[in-house]
Amino acid sequence: MLKVAVLVSGGGTNLQALIDAVQHGTIKNADISLVISNKKNAYALERAANNHIPAKCISKADYESLEEYDQAMIDAIRESGAELIVLAGFLVVLSKRFVKEFEGRIINIHPSLIPAFCGEGFYGLHVHEAVLKRGVKITGATVHFVDDGTDTGPIIAQKAVEVYEKDTEEILQRRVMEQAEWIILPQAVDDIANGRISLIDGKVVREETE
Ligand code: GRF
Repeated sequence: MLKVAVLVSGGGTNLQALIDAVQHGTIKNADISLVISNKKNAYALERAANNHIPAKCISKADYESLEEYDQAMIDAIRESGAELIVLAGFLVVLSKRFVKEFEGRIINIHPSLIPAFCGEGFYGLHVHEAVLKRGVKITGATVHFVDDGTDTGPIIAQKAVEVYEKDTEEILQRRVMEQAEWIILPQAVDDIANGRISLIDGKVVREETE
């Protein structure tokens, strides 16, 4: 059973999609062993509590240095026994040290088709705002392994979503979540937990199993 730690900052709808998928058996051989939020009032923490999942708030502001914050995060994840870390709307940029510590075992969901609309400053509604401003007709979501860049790691899965003329940022964000994020993130966790996806020499390798 693969233990998974989910890192969140906000509403936690992606966390909910993971919880539901584990409960319904869409994700097999994995269990969410810990939820960490950098914000005390994140609704995601309530979702964890409602589902009896251990959860804690670890905020940079509570530590004197970045090193201490990193250590607290690393310790919490190690203690939980998690072997896969899922960034599900986690708005803190992870340090090189953290990424190194869990190399090849961190994945992120990004609400665009990488390499479009990603990198520094492209998070949350800003991504959808930029999509609408540019006038692209197709956007989507990407699940990728995390390396020490911003949204630069090897891509695991992508799903396209149509952009409509009358979309607002909020409407588009919701459609991207419903039609892409909540589908490809649980799928990626299931694929990793069941050995269908692995990272070999920095490349995502997919093995088709029955
Ligand atoms: C999602 O759009 C995710 O892709 C982005 O932040 C949002 C988080 O939403 N990185 P939620 O907290 O999972 O509801």
